[in-house]
Formats: sequence, structure tokens, C-alpha cells
Amino acid sequence: MAPQRASAEVRRKRVSVLFSGRGSNMASLLMAAMAPGYPAIITHAFTNVPGAGGLEIARKNEIAVDVIDHRAFDSREAHEAAVMAKLVEAKPDIICLAGYMRVLSEGFVRRYRGKILNIHPSLLPSFKGVDTHHRARIAGVRVHGATVHFVDETLDGGPIIAQAAVPIEAGDSDDTLAARVLEAEHRLYPHALALVASGKVRLSGSRIVVSDTPHETGAALYSPPLPAGDAG
Ligand code: GAR
Repeated sequence: MAPQRASAEVRRKRVSVLFSGRGSNMASLLMAAMAPGYPAIITHAFTNVPGAGGLEIARKNEIAVDVIDHRAFDSREAHEAAVMAKLVEAKPDIICLAGYMRVLSEGFVRRYRGKILNIHPSLLPSFKGVDTHHRARIAGVRVHGATVHFVDETLDGGPIIAQAAVPIEAGDSDDTLAARVLEAEHRLYPHALALVASGKVRLSGSRIVVSDTPHETGAALYSPPLPAGDAG
């Protein structure tokens, strides 16, 4: 009998990325997946927007990419059926929504429950929907940020996998804040995908189960910062 290989390589999870815009989060996932040992590989991309900036990123990275314009369909269901057909061919283990600006139907979410991740530019459950940076600023929020979550049937809803907190500064405009949050998104999404792909975070019913992810107990981000000596 042939001896077992000492370190059998764990199969990397296949990921399809769905996007509608410039694709910078997809680029961050592609970059992360180049690292040796990263537990996922981006095998396929999909967009509903024929001129989306992310198309160029997918092509440069030699990722198979499908384009199906939702405007060519009479109904959301018909478009989704076409998207699903492409996903059946691509056989992803995980689907990453990266600026995919279409609400998924219940049927789609049910079919891929526990396998669809989304990144949203706020600390959910605050500021679901659009214009998150503007609304957070107007509300006087001090700590804003980004969230990666499993997708459920509701808009920007579903169990939270990981979050990044980003302070809002006095001189921030919507654009400066958006840029700072986007930088955090580009670090957060690869981290969250790795947690799911490696099985360290998974969905059990509607709850997140986390194993083996030590964090700094008691650590907190204060914004505005606490005075020196007051942190304990
Ligand atoms: C990102 O900021 C992402 O969080 C947001 O769209 C942007 C896409 O940018 N997603 C949502 O608002 C989903 N509700 P990108 O195309 O450069 O990745």
C-alpha cells in the first residue's frame, strides 16, 4: 500500500464573486488568494452590469467571468434563474457578493444557505441600504465601519462573520470616510473569507459558530479616544 503523504494538501474552497461595480473588493480577494496556504481560490466571477469596472480586474486575473444584464429580463426571477444556471456550472463552495447591487430572492438564498457572504459598508445592523457613509456622518456616529455577513432573505441581513471599526473624524466628508472604510473592507473581506473557507467560522441554523479565533479580550476602540491613563 502506498504511504500517505505526510501533509495532504487541504482542498481550497472554490469561490464565485458577484459584483456590479468597480470590483475593488473582488481585487482584494484575488490578491489574498494568491498567498500560499490561503484556503480559497477565486475560480469564477459574475456581473449583472456589462460595463462594470470589475470586468477588467477579472479578465486581468484570468478568472472565468459571466455577464448577464438584468435589464434584458422581464422579471427578477428570470434573471436570477440565468445567474443560478451559471453558478451551477461554476460549482462554487462559497459565493462572495462584492458590491453586487441586486437583492437576492428567497429561493436563491435558500439554495446556497450558509455559503453566501456579503460585505457592507457600515457596522451592521446599523445603516443597511445605500448612502451609509453620509447617513452615519449626519447621525453623528463616532465609530463607523464595515461588516462581512452571511446573507439571509433580508436586505443587508444575516449573521455577522467579521467587522472592522473605523472612526469618523471631525473633518470627514462622505468621500474621505468612504475611502477609509474601503481600505478596511479590503483587509476585512479576505480575512472573513479565510475564516469561512477554513471552517473556523460556520453557520449553524441562524447562528455563527466560531472556533479557534483568539482575539484580544477587553480590547475596544474608543472614538474619540480616551485620555491617556484612562484606558484601563
Ligand atoms: C463596497 O463599499 C461594498 O461594501 C458596497 O459596495 C462597494 C463596492 O465597491 N456594498 C454594498 O453597499 C452592499 N450593500 P467595489 O466594487 O469597489 O468592491
